[in-house]
Amino acid sequence: MTDRPPTKDAANSMWGGRFAAGPDAIMEAINASIGFDRRLYAQDIRGSRAHAAMLAAQGIISDSDANAIGEGLLTVLSEIEAGDFPFSAALEDIHMNVEARLKDIIGEPAGRLHTGRSRNDQVATDFRLWVRDQCDAAISGLEAVIRAALTQAEAGADWVMPGFTHLQTAQPVTWGHHMMAYVEMFGRDLGRFRDARARMNESPLGAAALAGTGYPIDREATAKALAFDRPMANSLDAVSDRDFALEFLSAASICAVHLSRLSEELVIWSSAQFRFVSMSDKWSTGSSIMPQKRNPDAAELIRAKIGRILGATVALFTVMKGLPLAYSKDMQEDKEQVFDAADNVLLALAAMAGMLADLTANKGRMEAAASAGFSTATDLADWLVREAGLPFREAHHATGSLVALAEGKGCDLDELSLAEMQSVNPAINQSVYSVLGVHNSVASRQSYGGTAPDQVRAQISRWKEKLA
Ligand code: ARG
Repeated sequence: MTDRPPTKDAANSMWGGRFAAGPDAIMEAINASIGFDRRLYAQDIRGSRAHAAMLAAQGIISDSDANAIGEGLLTVLSEIEAGDFPFSAALEDIHMNVEARLKDIIGEPAGRLHTGRSRNDQVATDFRLWVRDQCDAAISGLEAVIRAALTQAEAGADWVMPGFTHLQTAQPVTWGHHMMAYVEMFGRDLGRFRDARARMNESPLGAAALAGTGYPIDREATAKALAFDRPMANSLDAVSDRDFALEFLSAASICAVHLSRLSEELVIWSSAQFRFVSMSDKWSTGSSIMPQKRNPDAAELIRAKIGRILGATVALFTVMKGLPLAYSKDMQEDKEQVFDAADNVLLALAAMAGMLADLTANKGRMEAAASAGFSTATDLADWLVREAGLPFREAHHATGSLVALAEGKGCDLDELSLAEMQSVNPAINQSVYSVLGVHNSVASRQSYGGTAPDQVRAQISRWKEKLA
């Protein structure tokens, strides 16, 4: 960071009128946000250009001053984008860095830009614009993940795999059904980002420091220029709430939980003990010492991202709680948290979309595992209810005895002879074998949302229409 030459009295050139001395070096270090809020430069310049144009349209500043400001801001923008902008910690933040540079470029008219606004509504505007963009990026990222999961689901709508509860084999399900469970989760995440975006899309600009302004500004015009739906209705609220950032972080946290759970499953499934899936080389790493290793690092890192994302969420909730209205400098602590959470949730979404697209599910392994562990025991109990008229509790008990019998013999349920079955319940006949296969089991689960391939395919088509 280059430091601008100190002004004559070393006090801040932006507000130093009543100050005789500049800040202590440590004060500058704790106070300055330019080290991170420079990321808001494009939003800051966009907001200022909208503000200046409105000031001229309202006759508050002259057209020629507004033009000079508008052009000068574009020069500042290109300087920042070219990487040769003299950022200064003495100028605290992006707002004052941009304005000071504007003054260097266009001179006196720069001083008219800050008419009828304050850094308080300025930062609230910049940050809303930035978070709004992140919502859009998260929505696209989620759509890519959903598309990849849908492709997996479609390929394996009838591939049988074990379904788990307590990570113990429970009942057979299909690969498509399992993938579609995540499509539903990511679909709700999509809804949360969309809802948050819609709610945050109001303009704080023109709230000024806290009370509004006496200048005849046009807040509708600046709201429109910045593609906000409307101006915020209360100036105190406009400068002092960060609920839009909290909503973004909350949506990001929930999304990161979903990403983490899917990642965990991919880690488990890609292990030698499972081999349900194999990750492509593109998303794996090797070991520097064990030549046979192929590690699911991307999945592990996505699994971990919830740590920092939830950390950021807790941090900003904690900063905001108990703050009196309106603006307090505490709120400057909002940005790094949101920046980090946004960067990481977007990266995790991109990695998940790529990893899922390149993932190979091992149909044979999954099917073999699905038959193990007496996974059709519930189907047997249901058969006893349906065909032999047993109350479910009794059928459950009889099936338990059959499982114990098979376990003792070291075989699967469908390997018990009819005589062995009838020793537990004489009403059992040959047709019981038809429900003991895993394919019959999944095909029978036709209830809405169930694992039957027909049901799964219906959900896949619904989602494809929704995304189209
Ligand atoms: N850098 C400040 C922030 O991020 C900008 C607003 C400063 N406002 C003030 N009254 N000091 O919050």
